[in-house]
Amino acid sequence: MKFDAVRTVLQDTPYMGVDEGWELYNFVLRERPARCLELGHAHGASSLYIAAALDELGQGHLDSVDLQTSADRVPNIESLFALAGLAHYLSIHREKNSYTWFLKNRIEQQTVAGVCQPCYDFCFIDGCKNWTIDGLAFFLVEKLLEQGAWILFDDYSWTHARHKHKTQNDGITVRSLGAEEIAQPHVEKIFQLLVMQHERFSNFVLQDRAWAWAQKTPDGRKALEVTTKTPLPARYSVRPRKQGISD
Ligand SMILES: C[S@@+](CC[C@H](N)C(=O)[O-])C[C@H]1O[C@@H](n2cnc3c(N)ncnc32)[C@H](O)[C@@H]1O
Repeated sequence: MKFDAVRTVLQDTPYMGVDEGWELYNFVLRERPARCLELGHAHGASSLYIAAALDELGQGHLDSVDLQTSADRVPNIESLFALAGLAHYLSIHREKNSYTWFLKNRIEQQTVAGVCQPCYDFCFIDGCKNWTIDGLAFFLVEKLLEQGAWILFDDYSWTHARHKHKTQNDGITVRSLGAEEIAQPHVEKIFQLLVMQHERFSNFVLQDRAWAWAQKTPDGRKALEVTTKTPLPARYSVRPRKQGISD
């Protein structure tokens, strides 16, 4: 499915901005990750960019995980994919509590003679932005990623301090967080202290202080490349940022 057609289906659907969609869509076309995993789909906008690019490649699959409550979103991911005619590229998984439990189950399924067999070429983490949950998710996902696979974190700079209207965030009660936990961006700390220090990862890229990429290869560049996203063609330059209540 062409990028223009994705835009027609999505219209103003939160949360992924058109500039982010352009980056993600072109990443999939370029790197051809056949087996993709997404942690946090909300309405399914980012999922649709991934699946549309897989469709252009003529192969691939996306496992996408969220909370059970995501079924109640309007539109929900089922209706978006039905509209796009791309449901055959997608498996939807919903958990009561957290995608970390989905990852536990996947590791169990992939374990043969005590060793976890990798099964993904790409993982997009766009969920709760919390040290404990997403820090664990990183180590769990690592077990499932093939050599050469990419991982992408959204919300590198996101802090509770700058989202004071939210008293809780997907299982985390803000009142129970310490002052540092409220002030510091958790994804930045996960990326700097867990991902960049991990011996199996390299080729670190930070785009617009929002998206952080790493590749599961020990042999790449260990320094962080700070850059911006690929410029968006002029005809798409409308509403580039995420919109919506739970951003
Ligand atoms: C910003 S939205 C995702 C947006 C989507 N990737 C997009 O760009 O269109 C974050 C989503 O993560 C989900 N989420 C947050 N914490 C989660 C957790 N621990 N387990 C499962 N889903 C979670 C929320 O329910 C929410 O739908």
